[in-house]
Amino acid sequence: FVIDWDLSAAEKGGFDWFMRKEIFEQPKAVADTLLGRFDENHRLTLDEVRISETELKSIDKVVIVACGTAYYAGLVAKYAIEHWTRVPCEVEIASEFRYRDPIIDPRTLVVTISQSGETADTLMAVRHARVQGAKVVAICNTNGSTIPRESDAVLYTHAGPEIGVASTKGFLTQVAACYLLGLFLAQVRGTKFGDEIATVMTELESMPAKIQQVLDASQQVLDLAEELHSVRSVLFLGRHVGYPVALEGALKLKEIAYLHAEGFPAGELKHGPIALVEPGMPVFVIVPPRGRDQLHDKVISNIQEVRARGARTIVLVEEGDDEVNPYADVTLRLPQTSTLLQPLLAIVPLQLFACEVATLLGHDVDQPRNLAKSVTVE
Ligand code: G6P
Repeated sequence: FVIDWDLSAAEKGGFDWFMRKEIFEQPKAVADTLLGRFDENHRLTLDEVRISETELKSIDKVVIVACGTAYYAGLVAKYAIEHWTRVPCEVEIASEFRYRDPIIDPRTLVVTISQSGETADTLMAVRHARVQGAKVVAICNTNGSTIPRESDAVLYTHAGPEIGVASTKGFLTQVAACYLLGLFLAQVRGTKFGDEIATVMTELESMPAKIQQVLDASQQVLDLAEELHSVRSVLFLGRHVGYPVALEGALKLKEIAYLHAEGFPAGELKHGPIALVEPGMPVFVIVPPRGRDQLHDKVISNIQEVRARGARTIVLVEEGDDEVNPYADVTLRLPQTSTLLQPLLAIVPLQLFACEVATLLGHDVDQPRNLAKSVTVE
């Protein structure tokens, strides 16, 4: 009797790649990150907080610093933090932040996001911020790693080990943790009250089941990858929080499929990117939920604009929204949620698409060329 599984196949639990396994672990990873966040007084808590409430109340600016996928999680966070706390929030690539003499002082709250907790550029940003007297909160997936050890407060994501170099469950749990931090700051500063926070938390807690629904519909994404894997270039468009999702969707394709892919704010199309559109070029568009603002309708016109130039439009849109149908060559349906939380759903088909395209092209999905999981040099 011979077991024909090697150790690494066993660790992948029946999946061909760690990355694919990690994509499918996302409902649990997000649920674990949200678990047990309320204390006995129904107040939100972080993991380790060495910053006083008075200090948190006196901050006048939040600056998020991170690299790669974690930076895109930070871009999503900006929308939520500013909306819930009304404190200005900047997001910056760590290597840019560190070397441009940023304006930070004891009233700045610096938030770092890092899966590994060891990224050198992000660590240097932490050290620089602390020398300027700023308080630093680390959002991190690795217990006891350097960045959280050197920070004033920590919010751990509970994604479990991430082996695939291209981050997937790392991203989703970072976004979830950023929402928690936003709500925590809103609570401390009194810009949102207990019941409002509880409403958002209830919606957040419903997300793992919705992520699972997206995963259950993955066959459509695999078919799409089969059809499109030999294209030369792919565009991703979004507005509001859909914009960072577009950037992250494009990054996944670059990292593992080595395809030229770009993410743009859909409203910027007419200022340049639309010149790239050629007949047949796949353009993914993330459509925000229908709401009181004009976001949704603006994105629909952007879809029409690229389609009129011959683009093949692949539209990620909530269930029940049929307004997009006339302009979509392919529709990928997402469960309904609010605009702010939609990135937790919209990124999932894009991760799967990249994973499948890379597989079809014969690349090593878990160990892409030239990349490292953790970059510990500046
Ligand atoms: C590397 C990885 C990326 C990751 C980035 C930041 O470039 O390949 O997947 O997003 O580092 O890593 P961190 O551990 O700080 O989140």
